[in-house]
Amino acid sequence: MILVTGATGMVGAHLIWHLLQQHQKITATRRHTSQLDNIVSTFKFYTNDPQQYLDRIDWIILDLNDHHVVNQALVKADTVYHCAAFVSLTNSDKQVFETNINSTKHLVDACISNGVKRFCFVSSIAACGKSETDKWVTESIPWKDSPHTSEYARSKHLSELEVWNGIAQGLDAVIVNPGVIIGVSSSTTGSSQLFHLIKKGLKVYTKGGSGYVDVRDVVKIIIQLTEQNISGERFILVAQNCTNKEVFAMIADGLKLTRPFIYMGKYPLILVAIMMKVAGKLLNFTPSIDLRMARTSSNRAYYDASKIRDLLHYDFIPISKSIKDVCEFMDNSEFSQK
Ligand SMILES: NC(=O)c1ccc[n+]([C@@H]2O[C@H](COP(=O)([O-])OP(=O)(O)OC[C@H]3O[C@@H](n4cnc5c(N)ncnc54)[C@H](OP(=O)(O)O)[C@@H]3O)[C@@H](O)[C@H]2O)c1
Repeated sequence: MILVTGATGMVGAHLIWHLLQQHQKITATRRHTSQLDNIVSTFKFYTNDPQQYLDRIDWIILDLNDHHVVNQALVKADTVYHCAAFVSLTNSDKQVFETNINSTKHLVDACISNGVKRFCFVSSIAACGKSETDKWVTESIPWKDSPHTSEYARSKHLSELEVWNGIAQGLDAVIVNPGVIIGVSSSTTGSSQLFHLIKKGLKVYTKGGSGYVDVRDVVKIIIQLTEQNISGERFILVAQNCTNKEVFAMIADGLKLTRPFIYMGKYPLILVAIMMKVAGKLLNFTPSIDLRMARTSSNRAYYDASKIRDLLHYDFIPISKSIKDVCEFMDNSEFSQK
């Protein structure tokens, strides 16, 4: 049995679609509170008849923080793709830390005790180290914590350590570190937020940049790595390193809107974050930007994905195409009403 965690999220939904092209049934986890609208919209990206594919998913209701249920869910599993996580870049979401590390630890322990044959963990470039001598980040650069490290990045690093711990105990596991993932999703986290912000009229951009990758590449690669029994390795998955300005412009072009044209430097952004913090306290809302994000928004890192390109002879989808496909889908679907 193949089991996918986080099936209602962006990566999980695309992964299930691709797995269903090869397998009659896939088992997937969701919580009591999970909404299925994202997986339905995702399947609509690929087919006009999503229901026939949705019917081939065997659901297990599971909160990964519940250790006992996790153990029971894995009794029949021989392959596990772990895509579930709490994705948030603001440090105010305290459950990020607990959910990501605990869920991974519970799952790894349960995989070992149930004799799971293959485990694939979706980590992040946030869990990669930063080179002090070279601008390029590779898989082998050691992790370094700093006062500007986000709770999310720290949680992904510590989650990865749980997987490495499992590998040391004999678990056959592979880890991928995707950049910012571009793909169709009704999720309000990750890159989907960017599309919706620009659609709502965002006019500012910041100086920094990051590594980007199409969700279709992420899921195709993790299926290949898992099927080829690649183990005890981590792989950066980045198609291109882009500036924020470039990505914002591509999204605006795709949505046929004016490109964000107001440059916001680090210090004005810090001021906005302080004002939002005060307003959030007074009006009881969680600001979409915090001080840490404002301080690091101008940072630029370059991610080297040659390890995966060389191993699988893989050609990534260009980011302009990924963005164009999402924008076209937004134009023609319920996404446009959000
Ligand atoms: N999006 C990106 O740009 C990006 C970039 C690099 C790496 N990643 C990594 O890729 C993976 C997938 O991210 P994503 O973008 O697909 O995230 P997402 O759209 O936010 O989906 C997260 C998934 O995790 C599930 N989940 C959260 N807490 C859970 C819990 N306690 N028990 C069970 N399920 C739980 C959610 O279920 P509910 O539906 O119940 O909330 C949802 O299915 C994550 O590990 C993330 O760190 C993402």
